[in-house]
Amino acid sequence: MDNSGKNREHWQSRAGFILAAAGSAIGLGNIWRFPYMTGEHGGAAFILIYLIAVLLLGYPLLVNEMALGRKAQSDPVGIFKRLAPQSPWWLTGALAVFTGFFILSYYAVVAGWSFAYIYKVVLAAASPGMDHALAFREHISSVVEPIVWQGLFVVLTVAIIAAGVVNGIQRWSTILMPVLFVLLLVLIVRSITLPGAGEGLVYYLKPDFGKVTGRTVLAALSQAFFSLSIGMGAILTYGSYLRKKDEITGSAAWVAGLDTGIALLAGLALFPAIFALGFEPGAGPGLAFITLPAVFAKMPLGGFFGVLFFFLLGIAALTSAISLLEVVTAWLIDEKGWSRRRAAVCMGIAVFIVGIPASLGYSLLKGFSFPGLGMDMLDTYDWISNSIFLPLGGILTAVFTGYVWGGTRAAREVGRGRKASSIVKIWVWLIRYVVPVLIIVIMAVGIYDTFVR
Ligand code: PFF
Repeated sequence: MDNSGKNREHWQSRAGFILAAAGSAIGLGNIWRFPYMTGEHGGAAFILIYLIAVLLLGYPLLVNEMALGRKAQSDPVGIFKRLAPQSPWWLTGALAVFTGFFILSYYAVVAGWSFAYIYKVVLAAASPGMDHALAFREHISSVVEPIVWQGLFVVLTVAIIAAGVVNGIQRWSTILMPVLFVLLLVLIVRSITLPGAGEGLVYYLKPDFGKVTGRTVLAALSQAFFSLSIGMGAILTYGSYLRKKDEITGSAAWVAGLDTGIALLAGLALFPAIFALGFEPGAGPGLAFITLPAVFAKMPLGGFFGVLFFFLLGIAALTSAISLLEVVTAWLIDEKGWSRRRAAVCMGIAVFIVGIPASLGYSLLKGFSFPGLGMDMLDTYDWISNSIFLPLGGILTAVFTGYVWGGTRAAREVGRGRKASSIVKIWVWLIRYVVPVLIIVIMAVGIYDTFVR
């Protein structure tokens, strides 16, 4: 099975690539995590810091991963083997593959909740007197049901990946991303036209710099990382399906722009409705899964809009999940010679099994946590990947490009052989000096916050 060189599948158009990469970036991170982070960290002040983080850290790393992938035309392990043969740098690729696998295992659990809620929110809207917070907590804390939904979600993800880069990933990203955009616009219109929505808009858009601390900056930086899908193999792998002639800096700008735009729009869909119907905006991670069902239940035509919302969340999660499964699938195809179908199915099964404890953290494993962490299972998975593996992957890929592959060679690759433009020169400078230092600060503060504070 030669998946490299001439036989390698490639995106068929620039738009196909941009939509697939944006599909990876836009996910639970935008629609579930970004709004509550914004709510907790001072509204527009947080957004401003987030935008700076995307520019200084996110965009350069997107360009970096796309360039590495396009250059080497291989899976994450193969990329480092080709660009630095006979060196241990391939371990960076191995870390990326492992991280992709690990994130997907718990991502599928949360995605499963989204799909389960599509019908539950209808039931909730039909019974006005019920305690929604309780009802939805009950779903998460039952043993079998969430695992069934998690399994169904993994099956869907495997089916798309088994169909291939063009017929699976590109096709479904091209269909689903516009649907997501339209659904989001419908929800925004509903939300901001509710009586009393203005208060929510003020809360969301008025900067409160009094709430900004070092932790806010840290939260904004790691949110940028997770949201843009960087620091693990997804963009490296998608970049490897670029044709040599495809440009990078513009496509990366599109992806970063779409990802940021959708996150901002998600806040606009949520906060006005939450305020208009008298709910608490600082509900944290429960905002989408506990507060929102209650919001929909009180809203005119709430069942309908609730279905739209959770469908939207499910689609967003699906186009991100396929990019995660593609990383480990590409590795098995390129490095181990497996067929695509076999790789996708076997890894799907493995991802499902590894994810089960994350789901059981609210039922059978409730109260269990690793010493020193004090988190439930799902948060533990999330913390290990987002605070350890993703930043580590980011530092290593930046250092690799800046110092091993080399700034000059990387600049030539990004500029497709032309003399480096000023954008490319700034990019090299950011990758060499700014990105590694900033990420080390994020990691240091994150780990300190968790274990020492
Ligand atoms: N970017 C996705 C989100 O915002 O939900 C999550 C994610 C997908 C992270 C793919 C990392 C990744 F490789």
